[in-house]
Amino acid sequence: MGQAQAKGKSQLGDNFFAEIGGFACLERVHDLLYEKLYAHPWLKGFFVKSKLEIVKSQQNDFWAALMGGPSRYGGRSPRDAHVHMFLPAEVFAIRHELLGEALVEAGVPEALREIWLDMDTNFEKAVVNKSPDECHGRYRSEEVIIVPRPEDF
Ligand code: HEM
Repeated sequence: MGQAQAKGKSQLGDNFFAEIGGFACLERVHDLLYEKLYAHPWLKGFFVKSKLEIVKSQQNDFWAALMGGPSRYGGRSPRDAHVHMFLPAEVFAIRHELLGEALVEAGVPEALREIWLDMDTNFEKAVVNKSPDECHGRYRSEEVIIVPRPEDF
C-alpha cells in the first residue's frame, strides 16, 4: 500500500481522526477490543508476551496517525511487527469481527464504523501468512509464535 493511500486524510478527503472524536474515541475502542482479544480462547495466545497497556497505546498512536491525527507512532510497520507470528486468515477475521463489536459498543456511528473497518481490512495482506515458513524472529534470538486453534470454541 502506498503512503498516500494509507493515510486516513487522503482516503477520506478530510480528517477522520477529528470526526471520530480523536484519542478519546480510539482509547474507548481499543480498551474494548483488547479486553476481547485478551479473553478470546485462541487469540489471547498471541499476547502472552505482550503488555496490555503498551500494546493499547501503540494501537492508539498507530491509528491516530493513519486517520489524519498526530503522528506519534514510532514503532514497526504492521508487516514487520507481526513477522514473528503465524497469523492465519481466520485469526485476522476473528479480530476484525471483534473490532466491529468494539466499535458498536463504543458508540461509533455506522457510517464511521464502515470506513474504520475498511481501513482495518487494508492490513490483512500485511499481517496474515499462509504457513509458519513465512515467519521469522524480528531479531536473531526471537522465536516464531504459533498458537494452535483450540478445538472447543
Ligand atoms: C489490522 C490488523 C492489525 C494491525 C494494523 C496491527 C497493528 C499492530 C501494531 C502497530 C503493533 C505495534 C508494533 C510494534 O511497534 O512493534 C502491533 C503489535 C501486536 N499485534 Fe497487531 N495488528 C493487527 C492485527 C493483529 C492480529 C490479527 C494479531 C493476532 C491476534 C495481532 C497481534 C499483535 C501482537 C501480539 C502485538 C505485540 C507484539 C509485541 O509485543 O512486540 N495483531 N500490531
